[in-house]
Amino acid sequence: MAIPDSFIEEVVSRNELEPLVSTYVRLKTRGRTRVGLCPFHGEKTPSFTVYTENNSFYCFGCGAGGDVITFVRRMENLDYVDAVKFLADRAGLRMPEQGVNDAVSKLRVRVLEANREAARFYHAMLTDPKGTVGLQYYRGRGYTDSTIRHFGLGYAPDSGWALRDALRAKGFTDEELIAAWLCKRSERGHLYDVFRGRIMVPIIDIRGNVIAFGGRVLDDSKPKYINTSDTLAYKKSDNLFALNFAKSSLGKMPDGGTQLILCEGYMDVIALHQAGFTNAVAALGTSFTAEHARLIARYAAEVVLTFDADAAGQKGTGRAIDLLRETGVRIKVVRVPDGKDPDEFIKNNGAERFRMLMENSANDVEYRLLELGRQFDLATADGQARYLKGAAELLAGLSSPIERDVYAGKIAAEVGVTKSALLDQIRQVGRRRARKQEGQQLSQAVRQSAAAVKKVNPEAETHWRAARAEEALIGLLIRNPDYIGRVADALPPDGMVTAFNRTLYGLLVTRHQNGLLVEPSLLSAELEVDGMAYLARMVQEAGERANTPEEALRCAAVITEEKRRLAVQESTTSDEDIEAYLAKLRQEKK
Ligand code: UTP
Ligand code: MN
Repeated sequence: MAIPDSFIEEVVSRNELEPLVSTYVRLKTRGRTRVGLCPFHGEKTPSFTVYTENNSFYCFGCGAGGDVITFVRRMENLDYVDAVKFLADRAGLRMPEQGVNDAVSKLRVRVLEANREAARFYHAMLTDPKGTVGLQYYRGRGYTDSTIRHFGLGYAPDSGWALRDALRAKGFTDEELIAAWLCKRSERGHLYDVFRGRIMVPIIDIRGNVIAFGGRVLDDSKPKYINTSDTLAYKKSDNLFALNFAKSSLGKMPDGGTQLILCEGYMDVIALHQAGFTNAVAALGTSFTAEHARLIARYAAEVVLTFDADAAGQKGTGRAIDLLRETGVRIKVVRVPDGKDPDEFIKNNGAERFRMLMENSANDVEYRLLELGRQFDLATADGQARYLKGAAELLAGLSSPIERDVYAGKIAAEVGVTKSALLDQIRQVGRRRARKQEGQQLSQAVRQSAAAVKKVNPEAETHWRAARAEEALIGLLIRNPDYIGRVADALPPDGMVTAFNRTLYGLLVTRHQNGLLVEPSLLSAELEVDGMAYLARMVQEAGERANTPEEALRCAAVITEEKRRLAVQESTTSDEDIEAYLAKLRQEKK
Protein backbone atom coordinates (compact mmCIF):
# COMPACT_ATOMS: atom_id res chain seq x y z
CA MET A 1 0.00 0.00 0.00
CA ALA A 2 1.80 3.08 -1.20
CA ILE A 3 0.76 6.45 0.15
CA PRO A 4 3.27 9.03 -1.06
CA ASP A 5 5.79 10.32 1.51
CA SER A 6 4.82 13.88 0.76
CA PHE A 7 1.27 13.15 1.85
CA ILE A 8 2.37 11.38 5.04
CA GLU A 9 4.59 14.36 5.85
CA GLU A 10 1.67 16.71 5.29
CA VAL A 11 -0.64 14.61 7.46
CA VAL A 12 1.93 14.31 10.25
CA SER A 13 2.85 17.98 10.21
CA ARG A 14 -0.82 18.97 10.43
CA ASN A 15 -1.44 16.62 13.37
CA GLU A 16 0.77 17.52 16.26
CA LEU A 17 0.93 14.62 18.66
CA GLU A 18 0.51 16.53 21.89
CA PRO A 19 -2.89 18.14 21.25
CA LEU A 20 -4.12 14.88 19.78
CA VAL A 21 -3.01 12.86 22.82
CA SER A 22 -4.62 15.51 25.02
CA THR A 23 -8.02 14.58 23.66
CA TYR A 24 -7.53 11.11 25.23
CA VAL A 25 -5.11 11.68 28.12
CA ARG A 26 -4.72 14.51 30.61
CA LEU A 27 -1.11 15.70 30.25
CA LYS A 28 1.08 17.66 32.64
CA THR A 29 4.33 19.42 31.82
CA ARG A 30 7.48 17.80 33.13
CA GLY A 31 10.69 19.39 31.93
CA ARG A 32 10.68 19.45 28.18
CA THR A 33 8.11 16.70 27.97
CA ARG A 34 4.44 16.21 28.79
CA VAL A 35 3.41 13.24 30.88
CA GLY A 36 0.16 11.51 31.79
CA LEU A 37 -1.45 8.22 32.70
CA CYS A 38 -0.80 5.68 29.97
CA PRO A 39 -3.93 4.91 27.93
CA PHE A 40 -2.50 1.51 26.99
CA HIS A 41 -2.14 0.06 30.48
CA GLY A 42 -3.61 0.89 33.88
CA GLU A 43 -1.40 2.96 36.14
CA LYS A 44 -1.65 5.47 38.99
CA THR A 45 1.60 7.37 38.45
CA PRO A 46 2.21 8.81 35.02
CA SER A 47 4.87 7.12 32.91
CA PHE A 48 3.39 7.90 29.53
CA THR A 49 5.58 10.59 27.99
CA VAL A 50 5.04 12.81 24.97
CA TYR A 51 8.11 14.38 23.39
CA THR A 52 6.78 17.50 21.74
CA GLU A 53 10.10 18.29 20.07
CA ASN A 54 9.99 15.22 17.87
CA ASN A 55 6.29 14.37 17.96
CA SER A 56 6.74 10.99 19.58
CA PHE A 57 5.55 9.16 22.67
CA TYR A 58 6.94 6.47 24.91
CA CYS A 59 5.59 4.73 27.99
CA PHE A 60 8.17 3.71 30.58
CA GLY A 61 5.62 1.45 32.20
CA CYS A 62 4.63 -0.77 29.30
CA GLY A 63 7.00 0.09 26.48
CA ALA A 64 4.35 1.38 24.07
CA GLY A 65 5.75 4.06 21.84
CA GLY A 66 5.91 5.61 18.41
CA ASP A 67 4.72 8.50 16.30
CA VAL A 68 1.33 10.11 15.84
CA ILE A 69 0.25 7.43 13.37
CA THR A 70 1.20 4.64 15.75
CA PHE A 71 -0.68 6.39 18.54
CA VAL A 72 -3.86 6.50 16.47
CA ARG A 73 -3.41 2.91 15.34
CA ARG A 74 -3.26 1.70 18.92
CA MET A 75 -5.81 4.09 20.38
CA GLU A 76 -8.45 3.65 17.70
CA ASN A 77 -7.47 0.12 16.79
CA LEU A 78 -6.91 0.91 13.10
CA ASP A 79 -4.59 -0.44 10.45
CA TYR A 80 -1.94 1.79 8.93
CA VAL A 81 -3.94 3.16 6.01
CA ASP A 82 -7.02 3.80 8.12
CA ALA A 83 -4.92 5.60 10.73
CA VAL A 84 -3.51 7.89 8.05
CA LYS A 85 -7.05 8.43 6.79
CA PHE A 86 -8.23 9.23 10.32
CA LEU A 87 -5.50 11.87 10.70
CA ALA A 88 -6.09 13.21 7.20
CA ASP A 89 -9.79 13.67 8.00
CA ARG A 90 -8.91 15.37 11.23
CA ALA A 91 -6.70 17.85 9.36
CA GLY A 92 -9.20 18.31 6.55
CA LEU A 93 -6.94 16.67 3.98
CA ARG A 94 -8.13 14.42 1.18
CA MET A 95 -6.46 11.05 0.76
CA PRO A 96 -4.72 10.86 -2.60
CA GLU A 97 -6.45 8.60 -5.12
CA GLN A 98 -4.79 5.24 -5.26
CA GLY A 99 -3.95 4.37 -8.85
CA VAL A 100 -2.92 0.86 -7.86
CA ASN A 101 -6.39 0.06 -6.66
CA ASP A 102 -8.13 1.06 -9.85
CA ALA A 103 -9.37 -2.42 -10.65
CA VAL A 104 -10.69 -2.87 -7.14
CA SER A 105 -12.49 0.45 -7.03
CA LYS A 106 -14.05 -0.23 -10.44
CA LEU A 107 -15.35 -3.56 -9.18
CA ARG A 108 -16.67 -1.82 -6.09
CA VAL A 109 -18.67 0.58 -8.25
CA ARG A 110 -20.08 -2.36 -10.22
CA VAL A 111 -21.06 -4.10 -6.99
CA LEU A 112 -23.05 -1.03 -5.97
CA GLU A 113 -24.70 -0.86 -9.40
CA ALA A 114 -25.60 -4.54 -9.24
CA ASN A 115 -27.10 -4.05 -5.78
CA ARG A 116 -29.21 -1.14 -7.00
CA GLU A 117 -30.51 -3.16 -9.95
CA ALA A 118 -31.18 -6.11 -7.64
CA ALA A 119 -33.17 -3.90 -5.27
CA ARG A 120 -35.27 -2.68 -8.23
CA PHE A 121 -35.80 -6.25 -9.36
CA TYR A 122 -36.88 -7.50 -5.91
CA HIS A 123 -39.21 -4.54 -5.44
CA ALA A 124 -40.80 -4.99 -8.87
CA MET A 125 -41.50 -8.64 -7.99
CA LEU A 126 -44.17 -7.48 -5.53
CA THR A 127 -46.40 -6.55 -8.47
CA ASP A 128 -45.53 -9.73 -10.37
CA PRO A 129 -47.54 -12.94 -9.98
CA LYS A 130 -44.33 -14.68 -8.82
CA GLY A 131 -44.09 -12.25 -5.90
CA THR A 132 -47.69 -12.13 -4.67
CA VAL A 133 -46.75 -14.16 -1.59
CA GLY A 134 -44.21 -11.48 -0.67
CA LEU A 135 -46.73 -8.67 -0.92
CA GLN A 136 -49.19 -10.70 1.13
CA TYR A 137 -46.57 -11.24 3.79
CA TYR A 138 -45.98 -7.49 4.17
CA ARG A 139 -49.72 -6.80 4.20
CA GLY A 140 -50.13 -9.48 6.86
CA ARG A 141 -47.64 -7.66 9.06
CA GLY A 142 -49.51 -4.41 8.58
CA TYR A 143 -46.97 -2.59 6.46
CA THR A 144 -48.56 0.05 4.27
CA ASP A 145 -47.77 0.54 0.59
CA SER A 146 -46.03 3.75 1.41
CA THR A 147 -43.78 1.99 3.96
CA ILE A 148 -42.97 -0.71 1.41
CA ARG A 149 -42.03 1.94 -1.13
CA HIS A 150 -40.11 4.07 1.39
CA PHE A 151 -37.85 1.20 2.45
CA GLY A 152 -37.71 -0.26 -1.06
CA LEU A 153 -38.84 -3.63 0.29
CA GLY A 154 -39.05 -6.52 -2.13
CA TYR A 155 -39.28 -10.24 -2.71
CA ALA A 156 -36.77 -12.73 -4.11
CA PRO A 157 -38.68 -15.35 -6.12
CA ASP A 158 -38.21 -18.97 -5.23
CA SER A 159 -36.10 -19.75 -8.27
CA GLY A 160 -32.41 -20.49 -8.52
CA TRP A 161 -31.68 -17.96 -11.22
CA ALA A 162 -34.37 -15.27 -11.64
CA LEU A 163 -32.09 -12.47 -10.43
CA ARG A 164 -29.05 -13.92 -12.17
CA ASP A 165 -30.79 -13.86 -15.55
CA ALA A 166 -32.22 -10.39 -15.02
CA LEU A 167 -28.83 -8.91 -14.11
CA ARG A 168 -26.92 -10.77 -16.80
CA ALA A 169 -29.37 -9.23 -19.28
CA LYS A 170 -28.38 -5.84 -17.91
CA GLY A 171 -24.74 -6.54 -18.65
CA PHE A 172 -23.39 -7.66 -15.26
CA THR A 173 -20.67 -10.30 -15.36
CA ASP A 174 -20.62 -13.41 -13.21
CA GLU A 175 -17.60 -12.04 -11.36
CA GLU A 176 -19.53 -8.89 -10.46
CA LEU A 177 -22.57 -10.82 -9.24
CA ILE A 178 -20.38 -13.02 -7.06
CA ALA A 179 -18.47 -10.01 -5.71
CA ALA A 180 -21.81 -8.43 -4.78
CA TRP A 181 -22.75 -11.64 -2.91
CA LEU A 182 -25.97 -11.77 -4.96
CA CYS A 183 -24.98 -15.03 -6.65
CA LYS A 184 -22.71 -17.97 -5.92
CA ARG A 185 -21.15 -20.64 -8.06
CA SER A 186 -22.15 -24.24 -7.42
CA GLU A 187 -19.62 -27.04 -7.25
CA ARG A 188 -20.60 -28.00 -10.76
CA GLY A 189 -19.89 -24.50 -11.97
CA HIS A 190 -23.38 -23.06 -12.28
CA LEU A 191 -24.17 -19.59 -11.04
CA TYR A 192 -27.24 -19.42 -8.75
CA ASP A 193 -29.09 -16.79 -6.69
CA VAL A 194 -28.19 -16.48 -2.99
CA PHE A 195 -31.63 -15.20 -1.98
CA ARG A 196 -34.57 -17.43 -2.89
CA GLY A 197 -38.16 -17.30 -1.66
CA ARG A 198 -37.41 -14.54 0.84
CA ILE A 199 -38.70 -11.06 1.50
CA MET A 200 -35.88 -8.67 0.82
CA VAL A 201 -34.83 -5.67 2.91
CA PRO A 202 -32.24 -3.48 1.19
CA ILE A 203 -29.58 -1.91 3.41
CA ILE A 204 -28.88 1.64 2.27
CA ASP A 205 -25.93 3.68 3.47
CA ILE A 206 -26.03 7.37 4.34
CA ARG A 207 -24.97 8.29 0.80
CA GLY A 208 -27.97 6.44 -0.63
CA ASN A 209 -26.07 3.41 -1.97
CA VAL A 210 -27.69 0.00 -1.70
CA ILE A 211 -24.86 -1.83 0.04
CA ALA A 212 -26.41 -5.11 1.19
CA PHE A 213 -29.61 -7.09 1.79
CA GLY A 214 -31.30 -8.95 4.57
CA GLY A 215 -33.61 -11.71 3.35
CA ARG A 216 -36.24 -13.24 5.65
CA VAL A 217 -38.11 -16.49 5.15
CA LEU A 218 -41.91 -16.33 4.95
CA ASP A 219 -42.47 -19.07 7.49
CA ASP A 220 -40.65 -20.52 10.48
CA SER A 221 -37.95 -22.39 8.59
CA LYS A 222 -34.26 -21.84 9.23
CA PRO A 223 -32.19 -19.84 8.73
CA LYS A 224 -34.65 -17.05 9.43
CA TYR A 225 -32.44 -14.44 7.79
CA ILE A 226 -29.74 -14.58 5.20
CA ASN A 227 -27.62 -11.42 5.24
CA THR A 228 -25.07 -10.21 2.71
CA SER A 229 -21.56 -11.00 3.93
CA ASP A 230 -18.89 -8.34 3.91
CA THR A 231 -18.09 -7.28 0.34
CA LEU A 232 -15.98 -4.59 -1.32
CA ALA A 233 -18.87 -2.20 -0.76
CA TYR A 234 -20.03 -3.30 2.66
CA LYS A 235 -18.75 -3.91 6.14
CA LYS A 236 -21.37 -5.14 8.57
CA SER A 237 -19.99 -3.43 11.64
CA ASP A 238 -19.68 -0.01 9.91
CA ASN A 239 -23.36 0.33 9.15
CA LEU A 240 -26.71 0.55 10.87
CA PHE A 241 -29.97 -0.32 9.20
CA ALA A 242 -32.11 2.78 8.43
CA LEU A 243 -29.45 5.26 9.55
CA ASN A 244 -29.93 6.87 6.14
CA PHE A 245 -33.48 7.82 7.15
CA ALA A 246 -32.88 8.29 10.89
CA LYS A 247 -30.04 10.72 10.23
CA SER A 248 -32.34 13.35 8.75
CA SER A 249 -34.87 13.20 11.57
CA LEU A 250 -32.32 13.47 14.36
CA GLY A 251 -32.88 17.12 15.21
CA LYS A 252 -36.63 16.76 15.44
CA MET A 253 -36.88 15.32 18.98
CA PRO A 254 -39.27 17.11 21.35
CA ASP A 255 -36.46 18.75 23.33
CA GLY A 256 -34.50 19.56 20.19
CA GLY A 257 -31.81 17.04 21.18
CA THR A 258 -30.42 14.31 19.02
CA GLN A 259 -31.65 10.82 19.75
CA LEU A 260 -31.56 7.42 18.10
CA ILE A 261 -33.68 4.40 18.97
CA LEU A 262 -31.72 1.18 18.73
CA CYS A 263 -33.64 -2.05 18.21
CA GLU A 264 -32.71 -5.60 17.39
CA GLY A 265 -34.47 -6.37 14.17
CA TYR A 266 -35.10 -4.97 10.70
CA MET A 267 -38.79 -5.54 11.24
CA ASP A 268 -38.85 -3.53 14.47
CA VAL A 269 -37.19 -0.63 12.70
CA ILE A 270 -39.68 -0.69 9.85
CA ALA A 271 -42.63 -0.86 12.24
CA LEU A 272 -41.25 2.00 14.33
CA HIS A 273 -40.72 4.23 11.30
CA GLN A 274 -44.24 3.51 10.10
CA ALA A 275 -45.53 4.51 13.55
CA GLY A 276 -43.68 7.82 13.35
CA PHE A 277 -40.46 6.94 15.21
CA THR A 278 -38.27 7.76 12.25
CA ASN A 279 -35.10 7.84 14.35
CA ALA A 280 -35.02 4.06 14.83
CA VAL A 281 -32.03 1.99 13.65
CA ALA A 282 -30.74 -1.56 14.11
CA ALA A 283 -27.42 -3.33 13.92
CA LEU A 284 -27.16 -5.64 10.95
CA GLY A 285 -27.13 -9.34 11.59
CA THR A 286 -26.88 -10.54 15.13
CA SER A 287 -24.16 -8.73 16.99
CA PHE A 288 -23.74 -5.17 18.17
CA THR A 289 -20.12 -4.05 18.08
CA ALA A 290 -17.92 -1.26 19.44
CA GLU A 291 -17.94 0.27 15.95
CA HIS A 292 -21.72 0.40 16.02
CA ALA A 293 -21.53 2.15 19.40
CA ARG A 294 -19.11 4.76 18.07
CA LEU A 295 -21.27 5.27 15.00
CA ILE A 296 -24.30 5.94 17.18
CA ALA A 297 -22.37 8.33 19.40
CA ARG A 298 -21.26 10.23 16.32
CA TYR A 299 -24.87 11.00 15.41
CA ALA A 300 -26.76 11.19 18.68
CA ALA A 301 -26.42 12.50 22.21
CA GLU A 302 -28.93 9.95 23.49
CA VAL A 303 -29.74 6.40 22.53
CA VAL A 304 -32.86 4.49 23.56
CA LEU A 305 -32.45 0.72 23.61
CA THR A 306 -35.54 -1.31 22.82
CA PHE A 307 -34.41 -4.86 22.36
CA ASP A 308 -36.70 -7.86 22.47
CA ALA A 309 -37.98 -8.81 25.92
CA ASP A 310 -36.63 -12.37 25.74
CA ALA A 311 -33.46 -13.59 27.45
CA ALA A 312 -31.36 -13.07 24.32
CA GLY A 313 -32.62 -9.52 24.03
CA GLN A 314 -31.78 -8.72 27.65
CA LYS A 315 -28.31 -10.17 27.24
CA GLY A 316 -27.87 -8.07 24.12
CA THR A 317 -29.01 -5.01 26.06
CA GLY A 318 -26.33 -5.56 28.71
CA ARG A 319 -23.67 -5.91 26.07
CA ALA A 320 -24.84 -2.84 24.13
CA ILE A 321 -24.88 -0.79 27.34
CA ASP A 322 -21.26 -1.72 28.06
CA LEU A 323 -20.14 -0.72 24.58
CA LEU A 324 -22.24 2.44 24.45
CA ARG A 325 -21.07 3.59 27.88
CA GLU A 326 -17.51 3.76 26.54
CA THR A 327 -18.58 6.41 24.04
CA GLY A 328 -20.19 8.73 26.58
CA VAL A 329 -23.58 8.75 24.86
CA ARG A 330 -26.60 9.03 27.22
CA ILE A 331 -28.40 5.70 27.49
CA LYS A 332 -32.01 4.84 28.16
CA VAL A 333 -33.62 1.45 28.15
CA VAL A 334 -37.22 0.69 27.23
CA ARG A 335 -38.45 -2.60 28.55
CA VAL A 336 -41.26 -3.78 26.34
CA PRO A 337 -43.81 -5.54 28.57
CA ASP A 338 -45.22 -9.06 28.17
CA GLY A 339 -42.26 -10.54 26.30
CA LYS A 340 -43.10 -8.60 23.17
CA ASP A 341 -40.77 -6.93 20.70
CA PRO A 342 -41.40 -3.27 19.74
CA ASP A 343 -43.00 -4.33 16.45
CA GLU A 344 -45.65 -6.47 18.16
CA PHE A 345 -46.15 -3.99 20.97
CA ILE A 346 -46.99 -1.19 18.56
CA LYS A 347 -49.26 -3.43 16.56
CA ASN A 348 -51.21 -4.35 19.71
CA ASN A 349 -51.09 -1.12 21.67
CA GLY A 350 -50.46 1.69 19.23
CA ALA A 351 -47.77 4.31 18.81
CA GLU A 352 -48.99 6.49 21.67
CA ARG A 353 -48.45 3.74 24.24
CA PHE A 354 -44.97 3.16 22.89
CA ARG A 355 -44.22 6.85 23.22
CA MET A 356 -45.25 6.58 26.87
CA LEU A 357 -42.90 3.64 27.36
CA MET A 358 -40.12 5.76 25.91
CA GLU A 359 -40.89 8.66 28.17
CA ASN A 360 -40.88 6.48 31.27
CA SER A 361 -37.82 4.54 30.30
CA ALA A 362 -35.04 3.96 32.79
CA ASN A 363 -31.48 5.07 32.28
CA ASP A 364 -28.84 2.38 32.04
CA VAL A 365 -28.00 2.33 35.77
CA GLU A 366 -31.64 2.08 36.82
CA TYR A 367 -32.14 -0.66 34.27
CA ARG A 368 -29.25 -2.68 35.63
CA LEU A 369 -30.35 -2.26 39.22
CA LEU A 370 -33.81 -3.44 38.24
CA GLU A 371 -32.35 -6.47 36.48
CA LEU A 372 -30.22 -7.18 39.54
CA GLY A 373 -33.20 -6.86 41.89
CA ARG A 374 -35.13 -9.42 39.87
CA GLN A 375 -32.53 -12.06 40.70
CA PHE A 376 -33.05 -11.97 44.48
CA ASP A 377 -35.85 -12.23 46.97
CA LEU A 378 -35.61 -8.83 48.64
CA ALA A 379 -37.98 -9.92 51.40
CA THR A 380 -35.26 -12.08 52.94
CA ALA A 381 -32.09 -10.91 54.70
CA ASP A 382 -30.00 -13.14 52.50
CA GLY A 383 -31.57 -11.74 49.32
CA GLN A 384 -31.00 -8.21 50.55
CA ALA A 385 -27.34 -8.89 51.35
CA ARG A 386 -26.74 -10.37 47.91
CA TYR A 387 -28.56 -7.49 46.25
CA LEU A 388 -26.47 -4.91 48.17
CA LYS A 389 -23.30 -6.69 47.24
CA GLY A 390 -24.24 -6.74 43.57
CA ALA A 391 -25.32 -3.10 43.70
CA ALA A 392 -22.00 -2.08 45.26
CA GLU A 393 -20.18 -3.88 42.44
CA LEU A 394 -22.34 -2.12 39.90
CA LEU A 395 -22.07 1.36 41.39
CA ALA A 396 -18.32 1.04 41.86
CA GLY A 397 -18.13 0.94 38.07
CA LEU A 398 -19.64 4.42 37.69
CA SER A 399 -17.15 7.16 37.04
CA SER A 400 -19.32 9.99 38.34
CA PRO A 401 -19.28 10.36 42.15
CA ILE A 402 -22.58 12.25 42.00
CA GLU A 403 -24.25 9.36 40.20
CA ARG A 404 -22.79 6.94 42.75
CA ASP A 405 -24.09 9.03 45.61
CA VAL A 406 -27.61 9.39 44.23
CA TYR A 407 -28.07 5.68 43.57
CA ALA A 408 -26.47 4.67 46.84
CA GLY A 409 -29.06 6.84 48.59
CA LYS A 410 -31.95 5.27 46.70
CA ILE A 411 -30.81 1.70 47.26
CA ALA A 412 -30.00 2.24 50.92
CA ALA A 413 -33.49 3.62 51.51
CA GLU A 414 -35.07 0.80 49.54
CA VAL A 415 -33.34 -1.97 51.48
CA GLY A 416 -33.16 -0.15 54.81
CA VAL A 417 -29.44 0.26 55.45
CA THR A 418 -27.50 3.48 55.98
CA LYS A 419 -26.20 5.22 52.93
CA SER A 420 -22.73 5.64 54.41
CA ALA A 421 -22.40 1.88 54.95
CA LEU A 422 -23.22 1.27 51.31
CA LEU A 423 -20.83 4.00 50.15
CA ASP A 424 -18.07 2.39 52.25
CA GLN A 425 -18.75 -0.90 50.57
CA ILE A 426 -18.61 0.74 47.12
CA ARG A 427 -15.28 2.38 47.92
CA GLN A 428 -13.87 -0.95 49.03
CA VAL A 429 -14.91 -2.61 45.80
CA GLY A 430 -13.41 0.29 43.87
CA ARG A 431 -10.05 0.01 45.62
CA ARG A 432 -9.88 -3.75 45.23
CA ARG A 433 -10.73 -3.44 41.54
CA ALA A 434 -8.16 -0.71 40.90
CA ARG A 435 -5.39 -2.76 42.55
CA LYS A 436 -6.29 -5.86 40.66
CA GLN A 437 -6.64 -4.10 37.34
CA GLU A 438 -3.41 -2.19 37.65
CA GLY A 439 -1.43 -5.30 38.51
CA GLN A 440 -3.03 -7.28 35.72
CA GLN A 441 -2.71 -4.63 33.07
CA LEU A 442 0.86 -3.72 33.89
CA SER A 443 2.17 -7.25 33.86
CA GLN A 444 0.22 -7.90 30.71
CA ALA A 445 1.55 -4.74 29.09
CA VAL A 446 5.14 -5.45 30.04
CA ARG A 447 4.83 -9.00 28.81
CA GLN A 448 3.37 -7.67 25.58
CA SER A 449 6.17 -5.19 25.10
CA ALA A 450 8.91 -7.74 25.77
CA ALA A 451 7.07 -10.15 23.51
CA ALA A 452 6.83 -7.44 20.85
CA VAL A 453 10.60 -6.92 20.77
CA LYS A 454 11.12 -10.66 20.74
CA LYS A 455 8.73 -10.91 17.84
CA VAL A 456 10.21 -8.13 15.73
CA ASN A 457 13.83 -8.83 16.60
CA PRO A 458 14.23 -12.33 18.03
CA GLU A 459 18.02 -12.19 17.61
CA ALA A 460 18.31 -9.35 20.12
CA GLU A 461 18.23 -11.95 22.87
CA THR A 462 21.04 -14.13 21.58
CA HIS A 463 23.20 -11.28 20.25
CA TRP A 464 22.71 -9.00 23.16
CA ARG A 465 25.80 -6.80 22.87
CA ALA A 466 25.39 -6.24 19.14
CA ALA A 467 21.69 -5.49 19.47
CA ARG A 468 22.28 -2.88 22.20
CA ALA A 469 24.84 -1.09 20.02
CA GLU A 470 22.56 -1.26 16.99
CA GLU A 471 19.64 0.14 18.92
CA ALA A 472 21.79 2.97 20.25
CA LEU A 473 23.12 3.74 16.79
CA ILE A 474 19.73 3.77 15.06
CA GLY A 475 18.25 5.96 17.78
CA LEU A 476 21.15 8.35 17.43
CA LEU A 477 20.90 8.53 13.65
CA ILE A 478 17.20 9.28 13.71
CA ARG A 479 17.90 12.13 16.10
CA ASN A 480 20.89 13.28 14.04
CA PRO A 481 20.31 12.36 10.39
CA ASP A 482 23.32 14.43 9.33
CA TYR A 483 25.59 11.73 10.82
CA ILE A 484 24.20 9.05 8.52
CA GLY A 485 26.60 9.69 5.64
CA ARG A 486 29.70 9.38 7.79
CA VAL A 487 28.47 6.35 9.70
CA ALA A 488 27.46 4.58 6.49
CA ASP A 489 31.04 4.91 5.27
CA ALA A 490 32.24 3.11 8.40
CA LEU A 491 29.43 0.58 8.58
CA PRO A 492 27.80 -0.64 5.34
CA PRO A 493 24.02 -1.25 5.38
CA ASP A 494 24.46 -5.00 5.68
CA GLY A 495 26.97 -4.62 8.50
CA MET A 496 24.44 -4.98 11.29
CA VAL A 497 24.18 -8.26 13.16
CA THR A 498 20.44 -8.68 13.80
CA ALA A 499 18.14 -8.96 10.81
CA PHE A 500 15.51 -6.47 11.93
CA ASN A 501 18.01 -3.75 12.68
CA ARG A 502 19.87 -4.51 9.48
CA THR A 503 16.70 -3.85 7.48
CA LEU A 504 15.94 -0.74 9.48
CA TYR A 505 19.47 0.63 9.13
CA GLY A 506 19.43 -0.20 5.40
CA LEU A 507 16.20 1.80 5.12
CA LEU A 508 17.75 4.78 6.87
CA VAL A 509 20.86 4.75 4.72
CA THR A 510 18.97 4.37 1.44
CA ARG A 511 16.47 7.08 2.33
CA HIS A 512 19.28 9.40 3.34
CA GLN A 513 21.23 8.72 0.14
CA ASN A 514 18.12 9.52 -1.89
CA GLY A 515 17.66 12.78 -0.06
CA LEU A 516 14.56 11.58 1.82
CA LEU A 517 13.74 12.31 5.45
CA VAL A 518 14.17 9.61 8.10
CA GLU A 519 11.34 10.72 10.42
CA PRO A 520 9.82 7.80 12.35
CA SER A 521 6.44 8.63 10.77
CA LEU A 522 7.80 7.89 7.34
CA LEU A 523 8.99 4.48 8.53
CA SER A 524 5.62 3.80 10.12
CA ALA A 525 4.26 2.05 7.04
CA GLU A 526 7.16 -0.38 6.99
CA LEU A 527 7.32 -1.25 10.68
CA GLU A 528 3.89 -2.15 12.07
CA VAL A 529 2.90 -1.24 15.60
CA ASP A 530 5.38 -3.51 17.40
CA GLY A 531 8.26 -2.36 15.25
CA MET A 532 7.34 1.25 15.93
CA ALA A 533 7.35 0.65 19.69
CA TYR A 534 10.82 -0.85 19.39
CA LEU A 535 12.00 2.11 17.30
CA ALA A 536 10.46 4.61 19.72
CA ARG A 537 12.43 3.02 22.54
CA MET A 538 15.65 3.35 20.56
CA VAL A 539 14.99 7.03 19.80
CA GLN A 540 13.94 7.71 23.37
CA GLU A 541 16.96 6.02 24.97
CA ALA A 542 19.37 7.68 22.55
CA GLY A 543 18.26 10.97 24.08
CA GLU A 544 19.95 9.99 27.33
CA ARG A 545 23.37 9.47 25.77
CA ALA A 546 25.89 11.73 24.08
CA ASN A 547 24.55 12.75 20.69
CA THR A 548 27.90 13.14 18.99
CA PRO A 549 29.35 11.67 15.78
CA GLU A 550 32.04 10.02 17.92
CA GLU A 551 29.42 8.16 19.92
CA ALA A 552 27.80 7.01 16.68
CA LEU A 553 31.13 5.76 15.33
CA ARG A 554 31.84 4.03 18.64
CA CYS A 555 28.57 2.11 18.32
CA ALA A 556 29.42 1.28 14.71
CA ALA A 557 32.77 -0.06 15.89
CA VAL A 558 31.15 -2.31 18.50
CA ILE A 559 28.79 -3.67 15.86
CA THR A 560 31.64 -4.35 13.45
CA GLU A 561 33.57 -6.10 16.21
CA GLU A 562 30.60 -8.26 17.14
CA LYS A 563 29.91 -9.11 13.52
CA ARG A 564 33.51 -10.23 13.09
CA ARG A 565 33.53 -12.21 16.31
CA LEU A 566 30.35 -14.04 15.29
CA ALA A 567 31.79 -14.76 11.86
CA VAL A 568 34.90 -16.26 13.46
CA GLN A 569 32.79 -18.23 15.92
CA GLU A 570 30.84 -19.73 13.06
CA SER A 571 33.95 -20.91 11.27
CA THR A 572 35.74 -22.24 14.36
CA THR A 573 33.77 -25.31 15.08
CA SER A 574 36.43 -27.96 14.66
CA ASP A 575 37.36 -29.99 17.74
CA GLU A 576 40.90 -28.72 17.60
CA ASP A 577 39.83 -25.12 17.90
CA ILE A 578 37.54 -25.88 20.78
CA GLU A 579 40.31 -27.78 22.52
CA ALA A 580 42.63 -24.81 22.04
CA TYR A 581 39.99 -22.45 23.29
CA LEU A 582 39.32 -24.48 26.43
CA ALA A 583 43.06 -24.77 27.09
CA LYS A 584 43.35 -21.02 26.82
CA LEU A 585 40.49 -20.54 29.28
CA ARG A 586 42.15 -22.89 31.77
CA GLN A 587 45.37 -21.00 31.36
CA GLU A 588 43.63 -17.70 32.12
CA LYS A 589 41.99 -19.06 35.24
CA LYS A 590 45.29 -19.95 36.85
P1 UTP B 1 -35.36 -11.34 15.18
O1 UTP B 1 -35.46 -12.83 15.21
O2 UTP B 1 -35.92 -10.58 16.31
O3 UTP B 1 -35.94 -10.87 13.77
O4 UTP B 1 -33.81 -11.03 15.00
P2 UTP B 1 -36.91 -9.66 13.36
O5 UTP B 1 -36.21 -8.86 12.32
O6 UTP B 1 -37.43 -8.95 14.53
O7 UTP B 1 -38.05 -10.43 12.61
P3 UTP B 1 -39.49 -10.89 13.16
O8 UTP B 1 -40.12 -9.68 13.75
O9 UTP B 1 -39.27 -11.97 14.15
O10 UTP B 1 -40.15 -11.35 11.93
C1 UTP B 1 -33.32 -9.72 15.10
C2 UTP B 1 -32.28 -9.47 14.04
O11 UTP B 1 -31.23 -10.38 14.15
C3 UTP B 1 -30.70 -10.70 12.88
C4 UTP B 1 -31.49 -9.86 11.89
O12 UTP B 1 -30.78 -8.65 11.65
C5 UTP B 1 -32.77 -9.60 12.61
O13 UTP B 1 -33.43 -8.45 12.14
N1 UTP B 1 -30.87 -12.14 12.56
C6 UTP B 1 -31.80 -12.91 13.14
C7 UTP B 1 -30.04 -12.70 11.62
O14 UTP B 1 -29.16 -12.01 11.07
N2 UTP B 1 -30.17 -14.02 11.29
C8 UTP B 1 -31.13 -14.81 11.84
O15 UTP B 1 -31.23 -16.00 11.47
C9 UTP B 1 -31.94 -14.23 12.81
MN1 MN C 1 -38.26 -9.61 16.25
